Amino acid sequence: MGRAAATLFAREGARVVGCDLDKQSGEETLRLVRQTGGQMIADNECDLAKPGHVAKLVDLALTEYCRIDVLYNNAAMAWFGWVPEMAHEMFRRTIVSELDIVFWLSQAVWPHLIAAGGGSIINVASKAAKRANPLLPSVAHAAAKGAVISMSRQMAAEGGKHGIRVNTISPGVVRSKQTEPWLNDPKWHEYALSQMFLKRVGEPTDIAWCALFLASDESQWITGAEFAVDGGSTA
Ligand SMILES: NC(=O)c1ccc[n+]([C@@H]2O[C@H](COP(=O)([O-])OP(=O)(O)OC[C@H]3O[C@@H](n4cnc5c(N)ncnc54)[C@H](O)[C@@H]3O)[C@@H](O)[C@H]2O)c1
Repeated sequence: MGRAAATLFAREGARVVGCDLDKQSGEETLRLVRQTGGQMIADNECDLAKPGHVAKLVDLALTEYCRIDVLYNNAAMAWFGWVPEMAHEMFRRTIVSELDIVFWLSQAVWPHLIAAGGGSIINVASKAAKRANPLLPSVAHAAAKGAVISMSRQMAAEGGKHGIRVNTISPGVVRSKQTEPWLNDPKWHEYALSQMFLKRVGEPTDIAWCALFLASDESQWITGAEFAVDGGSTA
């Protein structure tokens, strides 16, 4: 999803600053964006779960492009386990890697968005925040993503006077590195489809289009909102 967004944002003229813990994948994203004439730089050594790395990433953006207008908080990592077996360490690690990273990066860019006269923060939550899944041991993931939605609303309330808009996208099941193994299980795939009015799994670009709109001035009167991009799964 991050790659799809980077590609689309760059195509629309954005100067993109990216990062990916998976260095090889991050470098491939960089190559693909530049190949199509897009402007992008990346720090593919950056672990967003480490505040020191976050500060370095923000510095990179400011050094290269002098300002920040949009923050797309897409990266996340979750650990899964059924309630009786879920180790607390895994639970905490999920909260850090899905919730704290959104807070840290938002806090780090906040003064720079104010300096730019406002901007747009787009946080990625999940259908899991709103609809439980008996086939997926997602207790920590659901907790983290639910908190992303409520935290975003509070950020919107605090950001309004600075012209900072904060919105959330909650994707349904989208084909990606994270979901590919589950989607290969027919039982899981069928269950996901059974929830959707539009009978197909999402593609990363389905989410990127919504993010692009929320990043643009066309959404200038939208803040504190949560967008279900899920084929109807939570309607
Ligand atoms: N795929 C789905 O069905 C689905 C559904 C709902 C929500 N989401 C959310 O959408 C977002 C994107 O998911 P995806 O399916 O594209 O996942 P993905 O695993 O395919 O990609 C996530 C990328 O983020 C990177 N990343 C993770 N933690 C990082 C960190 N701490 N620092 C730097 N990079 C990090 C990973 O290396 C990976 O390249 C996530 O927030 C995810 O929770 C996904």
